[in-house]
Amino acid sequence: MKITLRLIISLIIVAASVAALFSFLQARAEKKRLVDELERKNIVLSESLKESVLLILKSNNPSKLTKLVDRFGNRERLLGVIIYNADSQILSQTSGLPESFKQLSSEIIQAIQEGQNKSFFKKIEQRHIYYHITPIVQDEDSSVSGALMLLHDSAYIDTRIKEIWGNNFIRLLILSFLIVITTLIVVRWSITGPIAQIADWIKELRLGENNQLTHLPRGDVLGPLASEVRQLAKSLTTARAAAEQEARLRLSSESVWTPEKLKEHVRNKLGEKTLFLISNREPYMHVKQKRKVECIVPASGLVTALEPVMRACGGIWIAHGAGDSDREVCDSQDKLKVPPNEPAYTLKRIWLSKEEEDGHYYGFSNEGLWPLCHITHTRPTFRLEDWIQYQKVNQKFADTLLEEIKNEECPLILIQDYHFALLPLLIRKKRPDVHIAVFWHIPWPNPESFSICPWKQEILLGMLGADILGFHIQFHCNNFLDTVDNVLESKVNWENFSVQRLGHTTSVKPFPISVSSPMETSFTQGEVSPETNKARILESLSKDYGIHTETIGVGVDRLDYTKGIVERFKAVERFFAKYPQYIGKFTFIELGAPSRTHIQKYHDFIAEVEKTVDEINWKLQTKEWKPILFLKAHHSHEEILPFYKAADLCLVTSLHDGMNLVAKEFIATRGDEDGVLILSQFTGASRELKEALIVNPYDIEEVAESIRLALMMDSVERSRRMKQMRAIVQDRNIYRWAANIITAISQIESVPKESIPSEEIAHEPMA
Ligand code: G6P
Repeated sequence: MKITLRLIISLIIVAASVAALFSFLQARAEKKRLVDELERKNIVLSESLKESVLLILKSNNPSKLTKLVDRFGNRERLLGVIIYNADSQILSQTSGLPESFKQLSSEIIQAIQEGQNKSFFKKIEQRHIYYHITPIVQDEDSSVSGALMLLHDSAYIDTRIKEIWGNNFIRLLILSFLIVITTLIVVRWSITGPIAQIADWIKELRLGENNQLTHLPRGDVLGPLASEVRQLAKSLTTARAAAEQEARLRLSSESVWTPEKLKEHVRNKLGEKTLFLISNREPYMHVKQKRKVECIVPASGLVTALEPVMRACGGIWIAHGAGDSDREVCDSQDKLKVPPNEPAYTLKRIWLSKEEEDGHYYGFSNEGLWPLCHITHTRPTFRLEDWIQYQKVNQKFADTLLEEIKNEECPLILIQDYHFALLPLLIRKKRPDVHIAVFWHIPWPNPESFSICPWKQEILLGMLGADILGFHIQFHCNNFLDTVDNVLESKVNWENFSVQRLGHTTSVKPFPISVSSPMETSFTQGEVSPETNKARILESLSKDYGIHTETIGVGVDRLDYTKGIVERFKAVERFFAKYPQYIGKFTFIELGAPSRTHIQKYHDFIAEVEKTVDEINWKLQTKEWKPILFLKAHHSHEEILPFYKAADLCLVTSLHDGMNLVAKEFIATRGDEDGVLILSQFTGASRELKEALIVNPYDIEEVAESIRLALMMDSVERSRRMKQMRAIVQDRNIYRWAANIITAISQIESVPKESIPSEEIAHEPMA
């Protein structure tokens, strides 16, 4: 039986049962009410008649009695009255009463004998009759001297009850009709319709006729199914694209790194070993938004780069659980499987107290090391309390990691960034067999700049606990080696870029970080044509912000003073001053994610950015246009991608940046081989993406000119540059980066524990 029929029948059975029950109860109550009413009426009438009958009997006047009973016959429903004597003989009766109505000697005798009222129903000759007998007593002491009987036609009670059932039946019929119609509509709209659509959609997808992932039918009932199918379709499309790409690459004998290839590589090099990755920032954060727990991907280059690696390799990612609802979704060991839709690895969260977070994250890491390593004229602040928390948190992560690796032999550990400079040595101290790679995602300054750090020795010693120390570019490696040379007693080997200290060697190498390959990034979004995508963005600019423009530039950043955002806006302002013909034709959109806002400098920085935008817009805007649209919010990858794809140019103007993955992400999304990248010379990315328009972000004139150049550039030149940059990003993608680090790590031999004197490695937190 079809689901619709089953649903209709079940609903009608339920409705009919409910209707029957309620009809029964209603009929019963109505019958009781009518009978009570009839009885009451009869009692009142009998009592009043009894008085008159008694008087007539006393006066012994039979003709008066006959008159009386005749007066009460055939009134409305009252059929008649009969008077009996004490021997149950009829003394008088309403004339015309049929004989069959009077065959009641036993009930009369009983009423007279008992001296009690008696009432009952009888069906005689198809007529429903109600009888009411009242004994007649002369006075209280004397015996019964007869009886008075009233006969009522009670058919109206049955008629009323039938009416109730009849009305309710009609109601049930109407209800059933409505149930059928509603069920058919709801089932068609919400179930069978969407299922048929999904089936068609999946079929088209299977046959390779449909790449429009965004067009999957939605439906509230089928919502969860639809989103699962969407995921499945996404994986299928990506896998198909990957297979096609692999096949193409095999034919052209190129060797591009893919997730599958990396997986294979890791298996070859490390066997079944688990990969342990440690970072401060977690790849998925659970936060409460409008009373619902949402899972967001934080704005972090580190996450953008490493998440695809962990997806490919599996393993355990240990990070600070910073989301306000993080605890709600973890198991008893503070772990959960991620990504939420396609679990591929384990995220283990570590909880930090407010004091620890203030000192470690906001304080020493982001007010000390961050400005120390970025030369952006922001003075680092070093506080003893922060340093103490920095050591405590490094120790806390070390303890958790040691617990996780206790059953692993020669575990492989990838430590990320400046939040954990002390961690390598803390681990090696307890487990000399570990293989540790540290990747420093931010620049390393020259020795003079670094020398202002009060705890420079401890930091360097901590880092040298690693086997491999990676920076984005050789220049940062050289700075690091110079710094070690200046600060520590050690042997710096400039031949093979390593440091030897107390029998332990740390290789210092560049590993330029990247994004997953262009192919993968463009397919995950679905294939909306570039023209449609741009038209949609321009339409939403006009609809949502009242901005009418023809061309757009885009900037995507964490709101950080190292990103050169104010300088960028000044350059946009200068561009309009120099080339006013672009007023009303070009708008720059900044997607800025607030970051580290508890730090006063960041707080002030956001205010400065807002003020600059306001000033420029106020000066230049027209009724229907603005030069800059500043969208201050956390934007997901899915929200950012259409902007990347629609942009005529992308501005990356960092004042100093380790790599800058926004530049590479922009390139990766441009499957149409269009768009111009304007890139700061102070980013690591500028060493690789030479076909970008390389600028000095401090030079406002130069950046303004580059905007003009980008907008004027002919499409052949744009495409030539973009193609070359895409080839580089594709070739040097994040899988190659991970493979290189893993190859380097697999070549390390374990250091015996006893070769490291404990006084060198132990730096207890200061009290
Ligand atoms: C830089 C750092 C990362 C950090 C990211 C975001 O890219 O190198 O370690 O995760 O900024 O900053 P946040 O403080 O929000 O983690």
